[in-house]
Amino acid sequence: MKSINSIRFALAALGAAALAACGQSGPAPVEAPAEPVAVEAPPPPAFEPTAAAFKCIRDMHPVRGFYVDNLLGNLDGTIAAATSETGAIYPAGSVVQLVPGEAMIKREAGYNAATKDWEFFELDVTEAGAAIRVRGADEVVNQFGGNCLACHEKAKPEFDLICEQTHGCDPIPLTPVMVKAIQNTDPRCPPVPDLPADQLEALAMLQAFRDAAAGN
Ligand code: HEC
Repeated sequence: MKSINSIRFALAALGAAALAACGQSGPAPVEAPAEPVAVEAPPPPAFEPTAAAFKCIRDMHPVRGFYVDNLLGNLDGTIAAATSETGAIYPAGSVVQLVPGEAMIKREAGYNAATKDWEFFELDVTEAGAAIRVRGADEVVNQFGGNCLACHEKAKPEFDLICEQTHGCDPIPLTPVMVKAIQNTDPRCPPVPDLPADQLEALAMLQAFRDAAAGN
């Protein structure tokens, strides 16, 4: 009987591994209730971010071209990871944003091995605040059909899925001036008076792209 049970368990484990497989080498999240795993250090607290986690992007902490925050009070740890020249693993609670409509939040250890515990968000942002349109791990696809993880996992491993422009990800079709202009027109923030001409031009170009896409 014991051997049949272990064969059953092995088959179940294989099935779960196949379902969870994303080309990752980490352990598959197989449930094995009989054997509790000994934990050496207490894990960071489990937490469930809500839309309240997101605020005016310019109230976050700027690092080069993007912004960071930490929902668990460890902003120093997040800034240290973001400013490390050799790369680092971001601490739990880290929020990273390049534009108001997309975010990554580092969840508690064990949240998702394939995404290195990052949760991806696509947000609808208005004057009233942010609403979560899509959230999750390896399944999250942006409004242009791009899977967040498919791009971000190409970042060199030492950069913990953070792409910037030099970490090995496929590029996005936004120039740094466009990104700056989008950050400066976050509808949740006080307006920036007198945007420079290159940013106004970038916004006009983005609007033209949107109009063209809507016309199709
Ligand atoms: C086509 C590939 C691609 C897709 C799809 C994509 N990203 Fe990115 N993302 C990038 C690149 C490249 C950058 C860096 C751009 C820059 O700094 O100019 C970036 C930047 C970011 C940043 C700022 C931190 C960093 O990695 O530089 C966040 C946060 C982010 N993306 C979240 C998301 C989320 C959430 C999704 C899905 C809803 C998503 N991205 C989809 C390629 C992608």
